[in-house]
Amino acid sequence: MSEGVQAQEYYGKIPRHIAIIMDGNGRWARRRHLPRVAGHRAGVESVRAIVRRCGELDVKVLTLFAFSSENWRRPAQEVGLLMELFIRALQRESRKLNENKVRLRVIGDLGRFPGKLRNEIDKAEALTRDNTGLQLVIAANYGGRWDITQALQALAWRIEAGEIHAGDVSESLIQQHLCLADMPEPDLFIRTGGEQRISNFLLWQLAYSELYFTDILWPDFNRDELDAALQWFARRQRRFGRTGEQVERIKSA
Ligand code: IPE
Ligand code: IPE
Ligand code: MG
Repeated sequence: MSEGVQAQEYYGKIPRHIAIIMDGNGRWARRRHLPRVAGHRAGVESVRAIVRRCGELDVKVLTLFAFSSENWRRPAQEVGLLMELFIRALQRESRKLNENKVRLRVIGDLGRFPGKLRNEIDKAEALTRDNTGLQLVIAANYGGRWDITQALQALAWRIEAGEIHAGDVSESLIQQHLCLADMPEPDLFIRTGGEQRISNFLLWQLAYSELYFTDILWPDFNRDELDAALQWFARRQRRFGRTGEQVERIKSA
């Protein structure tokens, strides 16, 4: 544990699930007159630091947006380099993640990825399957609309097969078919890089998350920056529709 924030300082206020849009790699590189891929490479270092910090603080789930369903629109060369970086990161980091009891899971429409990458994903998921530490979720070729669409399609198939009736469709049934069905919803959402938008990330699951935006570019986002976000989070009063007074009363009961 660092001399920074101690886990117990946040007792009861550490988010169970943190979801992050890791944005700003390209601008970080441009400021240094480097190719964009240098920013993505530096971004992998931030991932390492944030995963470690979340493990220390006993965060249960960390979901990282690595590649959106819209990122295919980027120049083919950048897309190719991102895939290579992803493959290499999986090859290099899996063993270490496993040693640290991290369970890795990749969500998204993986069919469009090169076979080699899918293979590395399968291997890393299989290796870490039984780990009970931090659950690290990487969203790759993920889109919130895609997620909701695939859930509804799965439900439609079940209705067509006569397993359930149209009238059975409920929020909880839809939720059960989404990618993160077995995880708590994100308590804290972070977007680095200065933009204040969701960019088709977890649309359904972010319904009640606290939204934290910072101008810090992802390669500069380190454990101190994460701690600053956690301090901000600890000061939020989560009301879920209730009044502030009600929440205070429930807390002191
Ligand atoms: C985020 O950084 C990484 C990915 C989308 C893969 P960007 O590459 O979007 O960086 P900026 O927004 O151009 O600075
Ligand atoms: C969102 O970043 C996706 C990821 C970080 C993977 P983008 O940089 O692609 O988002 P927009 O297109 O600027 O909204
Ligand atoms: Mg961007």
